Amino acid sequence: MLEVKDLKVNYGPVQAVKGVNLKLEKGEIVTILGPNGAGKSSTLKAIIGSVKSQGEILFDGKDISKLKVHERVRHGIVLCPEGRGIFMSLTVYENLISGAYLIPKEKIKEKLDFVYNLFPILKERKKQIAGTLSGGEQQMLAIARSLMSSPKLLMLDEPSLGLAPIIVEEIFEVIKNINKNGISILLVEQNASIALKISDRGYVMETGKIVLKGNSKDLIANEEVKNRYLGVKG
Ligand SMILES: Nc1ncnc2c1ncn2[C@@H]1O[C@H](COP(=O)(O)OP(=O)(O)OP(=O)(O)O)[C@@H](O)[C@H]1O
Ligand SMILES: [Mg+2]
Repeated sequence: MLEVKDLKVNYGPVQAVKGVNLKLEKGEIVTILGPNGAGKSSTLKAIIGSVKSQGEILFDGKDISKLKVHERVRHGIVLCPEGRGIFMSLTVYENLISGAYLIPKEKIKEKLDFVYNLFPILKERKKQIAGTLSGGEQQMLAIARSLMSSPKLLMLDEPSLGLAPIIVEEIFEVIKNINKNGISILLVEQNASIALKISDRGYVMETGKIVLKGNSKDLIANEEVKNRYLGVKG
């Protein structure tokens, strides 16, 4: 479904992504792990087209690397960015509608029902101003808003950031649920243990490069991953 070949991202003299190759098959959940500054967010931004990149990005066999962001969204990719990117002064409902600008009007009701079903709290709070939601609710809104564009591939950048463990569990339950609805998921996470638990495969990225890849089970058992990303000693 997604194949990225020799992806490079430069910010002036800073080479943030230095030739990344990765793949995601339809139906998979794939996680990218790595320390701060490894180039994880830059990789997702390059895939959605919000930063300039070099290399090939194939989606359903078609090279989308020269397309604009909204054209990539139309092809079925969406990015739920780090820091959420919701409109704080708009209501929950208005935020959701803003995510649906590319889909036909008659589909909007169906999409709203879909996301309200995944996140019942958002239905209860549909008239509430987004800025007054809790951190967890804001994250749910950000994911729900991304889903309003009817993606085949949902990319999530650090959905657990700044949230209490119990809320993180809840969010990851919903991510699994979204995947069960046929949506493939590319996840960037620092919370490696919970991310690997729900994903099929993973990539470890360091200083702009993929340094390790494998099935999630193998990565969880890998000594280096254990020590560096799972907080397990010995
Ligand atoms: N707009 C930008 N201009 C200049 N440098 C940037 C820009 N965005 C990112 N960088 C640099 O590129 C490198 C990779 O950043 P990126 O945000 O992709 O890392 P990351 O793996 O997502 O890190 P984190 O875990 O902290 O979110 C960093 O050194 C960062 O400072
Ligand atoms: Mg990041």
